[in-house]
Amino acid sequence: MGELLRGPKIVELPRIQDPRGNLTFIEGSAHVPFDIARVYYLYDVPGGESRGGHAHKELEQLIIAASGSFDVVLDDGRDQSTFFLNRSYTGLYVPPMHWRELENFSSGSVCLVLASMPYSEADYYRGYEEFAAAVRVDQ
Ligand code: TYD
Repeated sequence: MGELLRGPKIVELPRIQDPRGNLTFIEGSAHVPFDIARVYYLYDVPGGESRGGHAHKELEQLIIAASGSFDVVLDDGRDQSTFFLNRSYTGLYVPPMHWRELENFSSGSVCLVLASMPYSEADYYRGYEEFAAAVRVDQ
């Protein structure tokens, strides 16, 4: 699994469609390639606002537009790719060592994040140059 999931990847989540409202569920290690240690969500984000602007050393995440939409721009120190998320049943798997910017939030959107580890400031690269230098050392 690790080999296949080295890069970012769109993950289709199970969807139980129902006229009363649809339901999606996520089980650690089954629908995401890690045990879920933490869940957080961004909400009340003003339309057009941006978040992110950091990378993680070891943390793996699945990012979902639980409501509304936004762009996730990922940068592995060499290449950039942009993922537009606007479905409650589609997640973006973000491996460690990817600089991320979350942009163009629609107003009222909710960004749900499943994470493989508890919060740790020591796991962050807060400066792009520091991140890029670490990528160069790894290569
Ligand atoms: P941060 O990850 O920097 O969010 P963004 O890059 O979108 O601005 O987190 C913002 C603040 O929230 C920062 O002070 C750390 C704190 N925080 C926690 O305490 N626990 C968490 O699980 C997260 C994600 C953030």
